[in-house]
Order: sequence, then structure tokens, then C-alpha cells
Amino acid sequence: MVALKPYTIVFSTMSVDGRIATETGFSKLSCEEDFELQHRLRAWADAVLVGANTAIKDDPSLTVRRAVGRNPLRVVIDAALKVPPTLEMFSVPGKGVIITTEDQSDDKISIYTERGISVIRAGEGSVDLRKALSALFDMGVRRLMVEGGGTTTYGLLRDGLVDELWLTVSPIIFGMGVQVINGNASLLRGLYLKSLRVLCGGWVHLRYGIIY
Ligand SMILES: NC(=O)c1ccc[n+]([C@@H]2O[C@H](COP(=O)([O-])OP(=O)(O)OC[C@H]3O[C@@H](n4cnc5c(N)ncnc54)[C@H](OP(=O)(O)O)[C@@H]3O)[C@@H](O)[C@H]2O)c1
Repeated sequence: MVALKPYTIVFSTMSVDGRIATETGFSKLSCEEDFELQHRLRAWADAVLVGANTAIKDDPSLTVRRAVGRNPLRVVIDAALKVPPTLEMFSVPGKGVIITTEDQSDDKISIYTERGISVIRAGEGSVDLRKALSALFDMGVRRLMVEGGGTTTYGLLRDGLVDELWLTVSPIIFGMGVQVINGNASLLRGLYLKSLRVLCGGWVHLRYGIIY
């Protein structure tokens, strides 16, 4: 039987050279209209997902503030359970979810569940992303927004789990830093352009569908 998964849109704002953060962690790339699109997509989504590095480095709230709508579930992928339970994204009990592996002990998991954070165990050794998205679907998540970082986006694209890629190109060059799609093996995916829009007089927002 084919496991069902949420409709999944990746949203990232990157430099002209495809970076989402500098080596020192600078990642402020959005302009006001880009923030509005980001928050409208959060309001559309049942859940917003980030990787563990983004959760720790940026401590995002993942709430809807620049648009009208309800707050989504806030999900982090964290095989090693390294994210602190005190993160902003977990500030409302019942709204936070951690996706980890089946190897994690009940003791370690209880640190999160005691604070009202749900824990999904998917895969051994590393997180099985397909199982993870299927578990989110079973929790009622039909529309998923992914806000990076690059490692998370790469894994989801590699496993054929992304339906749309929304990229905003910011008028800046980093030269080095974290890549928007950050993997260590070749990943050949065709895209088709769904729309293109200039924001704030200099940023370019592109929406792609994926050809698998
Ligand atoms: N400009 C933007 O739009 C934007 C958006 C988001 C992030 N960022 C920046 O991007 C940087 C972080 O990106 P990143 O690529 O380093 O990391 P990331 O994708 O945020 O997190 C990577 C981590 O997530 C976990 N993970 C992801 N996929 C997994 C899988 N398939 N299986 C198991 N674990 C998985 C792993 O954590 P474990 O080690 O626990 O296994 C992995 O080390 C930050 O500097 C942030 O500021 C920028």
C-alpha cells in the first residue's frame, strides 16, 4: 500500500549564488513582501517543518504574524535529539512536534513529551523522511510547508517528497555558506516554472513544480 503524505511546499530565501546563510550564520535575506508571502504560506499550512540546525541557530517561532490565519503545528527533524525543549517553536504545548529515530530511548523522549511536544519515531540510524511525512499525514497534516535548511530540503527532494519549490532570490552574493539544497550526492531533478514575481523592487520570487 502506498503511504499517504501531505502536499509539501519548500519555501527558501537565498542569495544569488544559492546560499541561505553565510559561514558565520548571517541569514537575513528577506524583504517585507517576502516575509508576507512566507507568513501567508504558514497560514495555509497545517504544519511547518525545519531541520535541527535551523531550529537551533535561528530559534524561529514559525507562527503567523504578517498575515491573517491560524498558527500551524511546528515540526523539527532531529535524529540526535539535540534541540532544546525550550525553543520558541515549542512555546505552546500541543503545537510542537519532533521527528526522530526509533533508536532514541523513552527517557530522552520524555524530556519533550512532558512539555507537551509530540514525538514521531521514524527510521533507524537516520530519520526515514517518507515514514515521517506519512506519520504527519496520520496526525491530520494535509498541507506541509518546509522552511529549510539546506540539508532538510535536500533530503526531501532526494526522497521525492516535495511537490513545489518556492525560492526567493535576494539581491546579494555570499560566495560561501550553507547551500539552499545541501547534499553530498548528485541530485538530478527537473523543474517547471509555475510563476515568477518581482518583490520589493529587487527580489525575485519563483515557484517551481518538480518533475520526478
Ligand atoms: N534563508 C533562509 O530562507 C533560511 C531558511 C532556513 C534555514 N536557513 C539557514 O540554514 C542553516 C541551517 O541549514 P543546514 O543545512 O545546516 O541544516 P538543517 O537542514 O536546518 O538541519 C540539518 C539537521 O536536521 C536533521 N535532519 C535533516 N534531515 C534529516 C534526515 N533525513 N534524517 C535525519 N536527520 C535529518 C539532522 O539533525 P541531527 O544532527 O539531529 O540528525 C541534520 O543535521 C542555518 O544557518 C539557517 O540560518 C536559512
